[in-house]
Amino acid sequence: MSLVQARLKYLIELKEKPVQNLLYENENSTIPRRSLLKGGLATGVIALLSGCESRVDLRVRKGLKRPVGVSDRSWKNIRSQFILKRGVTYMNNASLGMPPAIVAEAVCEGYETISKEPLHGKHGLQEKILSETVPNLAKTFGAERDEVILTRNASEALHMQAAGLKLKQGDEVIITTQEHPAGQRPWMFRQKRDGIVVKEVFIPSPLESADDVMERFEDAITKRTRAISFCHVTRGGHHYPVKKLASMARDHGLVTLVDGAQAAGQFPIDLKDLGCDTYAVSLHKWMLAPAGTGFLYVRKDSREKIRSIFAPNPIIEKAPDFDPPGTKDFPVRAAIGTALDFVNTLGVENIEKRCRFLSDYLKSGLEEIKGVKLLSGQMSDISAPGSTIFEKEGLDAMASVPMMEERIGTHIDEHQRDGHNAIRISTHIYNNRAEIDRLLDAIARA
Ligand SMILES: Cc1ncc(COP(=O)(O)O)c(C=O)c1O
Repeated sequence: MSLVQARLKYLIELKEKPVQNLLYENENSTIPRRSLLKGGLATGVIALLSGCESRVDLRVRKGLKRPVGVSDRSWKNIRSQFILKRGVTYMNNASLGMPPAIVAEAVCEGYETISKEPLHGKHGLQEKILSETVPNLAKTFGAERDEVILTRNASEALHMQAAGLKLKQGDEVIITTQEHPAGQRPWMFRQKRDGIVVKEVFIPSPLESADDVMERFEDAITKRTRAISFCHVTRGGHHYPVKKLASMARDHGLVTLVDGAQAAGQFPIDLKDLGCDTYAVSLHKWMLAPAGTGFLYVRKDSREKIRSIFAPNPIIEKAPDFDPPGTKDFPVRAAIGTALDFVNTLGVENIEKRCRFLSDYLKSGLEEIKGVKLLSGQMSDISAPGSTIFEKEGLDAMASVPMMEERIGTHIDEHQRDGHNAIRISTHIYNNRAEIDRLLDAIARA
C-alpha cells in the first residue's frame, strides 16, 4: 500500500462514523451506505474531506424530486431527506418544524465559512442573503423585495408591526380570542402605554364558517376602530378568511395586520393578493427553515401607517428602515434559501395536498374513538392542512404530551385555549399513516 493509499484509508476510517450517523440515522433513508464510495475511492474521499457541502450535494442528487400524488409511498423518498432520530415520531411541527438534512448542512456550511474567514465569510453571506435569499422569499410569497424584512421569528415581526402602527389614545384595535401571546401581548402593551383600546372578538372552536368570522369582526367595528389584527391560521389550525377581512377593513378605512406564523408553508400565499398591510411570518415551522428565522412584510403603500422604531431617519422611505440594526445570524439566514429551494422543489401546493391527506386520515380516525370531540373544522376553507385539535373525555391535555412520548415515542402538543382542554397534533409531509395509526391506538387506550 502506497503512502497516499494508506492516508486515504485512514481518512475514510476516521470520517466514516459521523457521516454514517448523519446519513443513515433515519431508518427510511434510501441512500445506500455503499454509494458514498461509489464512483471510486476519490469521490468518496472528496465527499468526506470537504465537510458539509458535499454531503448536501449527495443527498440532493440522490433523492429530491417532486412527488406525484399524496400517498405514503410517493412521499417515502422525501421522508428520507430528514434525519430524525430513530425511534422518534415528530408531530409537533406547529411549534418548531424539522428542517431536512440539507438545511442543517447549509447552516453548518455557513458557520464553517464564517469561522474560516470571518471578514470575507460575513460579506459573502450578507451578499447571498441580500441578492438571493430575500428576493427568493419575496417571489415565493408574492411580495416585492423591499417589502420583506428578515426577523428572528414571527413574534419579533408581530411586535414590530404592532409597535409601529400609528395610533393615539382612545383608538381601537380589534383582535380575536384565538391569538397567540405574540399576537396579543404587543397590543396589551400599547393599551397600557398609549391608552389605546384592545377589543377581543370571541371566535369559537371549531370555526363555524368564514362568514361567521367576518360577521363577528364586522359587529365589533366602531367609529373609533383603526385596525384589525389576527392570525391567518391560528395556533390550533383555524383558517381565517384574510382576503375578505382585509377587503372589509379597507372599506372601513382600517389597517389589517396579520399573523402568518402558522400559515407560511402550509399552502401557497400571495401577499399582494391578500391585500393586508402587514404580515408576520415564521420560517422555522412549516417552511422547514432553520430555527430563528422569519420575516415581516410591510406593503409598500402602507409604510406611512407603520413606522419603524429602528428608523434612524424617518424621511427615508426604504424598507431597510424596518430592519433591526446590528450583527445578524448570517449562517442561519443564508440557509433559508436552501429551505426555500427544498419547499419549492416539492411545490407548496403539493405539500398542502399531502398534509391535507394526512390530517383527513387523522381526523377520520379520531372520530371513531369514544369520547373524542374534534375541535378542528372539516372544510378546507376554515381549517389548515397540518394542525388538528381535539379533546378526549377524561384525558388531560398537559399529561398527554409526556404520556405519548413515553408510550409511543411520539411528540405532540397540548392546546389549552378558550376553556378547551385540547390536544394538538401537527403533521407534516414526512409523517405517515402507520405513525398516525399508532397514535390513534395510543389515544384510544389513554
Ligand atoms: C399563531 C402563532 N403566532 C405566532 C407564533 C410565534 O412564532 P415564533 O416562534 O416564530 O415567534 C406562533 C408559535 O407557535 C403561533 O402559533
